[in-house]
Amino acid sequence: MKTENINHAFLDGVLDGSHEDVYYHFGVASSDPILAELRDVKAVVVAGSGGRIKEFADRWSRLNGDADVVAFPKEDRFVTRYTAGVLFASHGMGMPSASIALQELMRMVFFLKRGDLDALDEVFWARVGTSGGVGLPGGTVVVSSEGLMADLKPYRLLKGGEGEYWFDGRFPAATVDAVIAANADVDFPIVSGKTIAGNEFFLEQFRLDGAVCFETPESKMSWLRWVQSNGVANIEMEGAMLAGYLNHWGFSKFAMICTTLLNRLEGDQVTATPEQLHKFSEDSGVALFNYLKSSLLGK
Ligand code: URA
Repeated sequence: MKTENINHAFLDGVLDGSHEDVYYHFGVASSDPILAELRDVKAVVVAGSGGRIKEFADRWSRLNGDADVVAFPKEDRFVTRYTAGVLFASHGMGMPSASIALQELMRMVFFLKRGDLDALDEVFWARVGTSGGVGLPGGTVVVSSEGLMADLKPYRLLKGGEGEYWFDGRFPAATVDAVIAANADVDFPIVSGKTIAGNEFFLEQFRLDGAVCFETPESKMSWLRWVQSNGVANIEMEGAMLAGYLNHWGFSKFAMICTTLLNRLEGDQVTATPEQLHKFSEDSGVALFNYLKSSLLGK
């Protein structure tokens, strides 16, 4: 862990009781008794939709002898469940929304692990989601090797009028390999590659079907060919920030597992049938659970 990058000026006072930490968007605070039930957290799994979080938690509970499922009371922003050592939370769509969830979850995990750097580093983080494939057909599961923005540069944020804060978007290679190894026998294609996080579903993903459109078929294909020739396998909306923040604190185990809903070289609209979409979404969950089973349950 990179302790110098952890906001000790604020977080240490939470540990010594000088003040509490209010995880406002999750509707809980460090002084809430509900958090005592989460002390043993070993993994944090995030996904865009609250419905998926509930399904994941129920499935993980069943795999763990119908372990109790703890639900946070507030659900109007993010849906949260905890069961059998795994904290599941939704993050909404896009990096502004997901960064709120991730910052509050990182603070929560710091509190739960009492600031113990070794204990913090044991925690595995994952995002499971959907994406547009770049030369990959719908239904391919991509385990990201690196998260980049639409210009193939890492995540950064404006530093007022003085340039930008830059982040490292790489995902730990050992975890990428371990996720793929845990899925050696699955019935869907699983690959690793770079992932672009667009700040917009339409404009920063170079779609032609937005209400606002600046691209032509030629400029769209030229961008897609450029990113493909630079090793990009898929496009989603959160990974560059997620890897950037987790690297900032120095976590060593985290992954992003996203199914492709379509091949962007062939179109922009998601036209897969409900049955296909269900299977696509299932498969990224299967890939995550195979890794969780091997890493947490030794199965
Ligand atoms: N999610 C995205 O961000 N883009 C896609 O094309 C599909 C899912």
